[in-house]
Amino acid sequence: MMDSIPSEVPPPNLHDLAEDHYFSANPPPKDLDKHTALAREFIDYHAAAGRPLVLITSGGTTVPLEKQTVRFIDNFSAGTRGATSAEYFLEAGYAVLFLHRQFSLLPFSRHYSHATDCFLDFLREGPNGSVVARDEDAAKMLHVLRKYRDARDKHMLLVLPFVSISDYLHELRSIARLMKPLGPLGLLYLAAAVSDFFVPPDRMSEHKIQSTDAADSVDKKKEPAKSVVDEETFDNFDSSPTVPRSKSLVIDLDPVPKFLKNLVEGWSPQGMIVSFKLETDPRILVHKARYSLDRYQHHLVIGNLLSTRKWEVVFVAPGSPDRWIRIPTVPHKQSSVGISTPADAASIAGEVEKDEPLDP
Ligand code: PMT
Repeated sequence: MMDSIPSEVPPPNLHDLAEDHYFSANPPPKDLDKHTALAREFIDYHAAAGRPLVLITSGGTTVPLEKQTVRFIDNFSAGTRGATSAEYFLEAGYAVLFLHRQFSLLPFSRHYSHATDCFLDFLREGPNGSVVARDEDAAKMLHVLRKYRDARDKHMLLVLPFVSISDYLHELRSIARLMKPLGPLGLLYLAAAVSDFFVPPDRMSEHKIQSTDAADSVDKKKEPAKSVVDEETFDNFDSSPTVPRSKSLVIDLDPVPKFLKNLVEGWSPQGMIVSFKLETDPRILVHKARYSLDRYQHHLVIGNLLSTRKWEVVFVAPGSPDRWIRIPTVPHKQSSVGISTPADAASIAGEVEKDEPLDP
């Protein structure tokens, strides 16, 4: 009797392999379980109410150079886009899960926390030893306070932090998977500035990378860093053997796998996915945004340039012409196309404060 022919095993998908490899090699953040439990409770609560929910990612991810991290590479982002957008989504009736870089701007408190003035400058002494808002700030502060309290009391806002690129990716994957039951009521709005390069843990130094050879004699058996770090010794223009020699540091980074494909196809296949594309060269912005959309097949890419991000963005969507949104009150360098209302534009562009300098 012939053995039955085994059914053909599909070839492993490269995106799945990259995912398995990345997530097994890079340890999760220590609070992942706690954050996942909070996110699950938040998502289930709003899913049961049939309410739309948006996951906003905001702020920049870091790339640690050492396991016990003293030095890291950072990605540009203050969190203005994410924190401002969160307020507008709340206004539109969305529950907001705000996954942000620790200590970057937060919805509501952003109006005061990173202001040019110290937040104490918004306050004055009141009667009987109390502290109250300055008269000129009181009306706006009361308005912001009420909105904040309302969001908090109605359980409409959950704020979770990340720091490094691997924290971010672990958190994003866990939360995106939890959003599956929301179906099309789930929106992922990826405004975080995500590192493209990182140091893999097997090439990362355990301790602080030394800038001189002063500690070499302490650990004679010390293995030379295998490593991302190419050290070269300079003689400090001093031939004395007692003077520690300075070292240059060459860092060799690996590419971070792009997980947008996994997000779109596996983690949150029914959710609406909006990603941002940041560039500095205006000639390539739309091209790169369109390329990202074609490659990952999600719903919308919002393109912005570092220098003009606060007052203009471009929407690149499948089957639609590119649509520029500009805040009309702010001078801009190119002619306006398709200006929407200032309120719409401000919600996406990150709201230019009246007294905010235009240059980043
Ligand atoms: O916070 P602000 O100061 O207001 O600034 C806002 C902003 C400029 C940071 C924001 O508007 C913005 O553009 N965010 C996206 C920046 C970014 O990471 O762009 P990117 O071209 O590197 O990535 C594009 C997309 O690919 C992102 O949605 C990201 O989630 C995704 N990505 C990126 C890197 C990576 N390794 N994997 C990814 O999946």
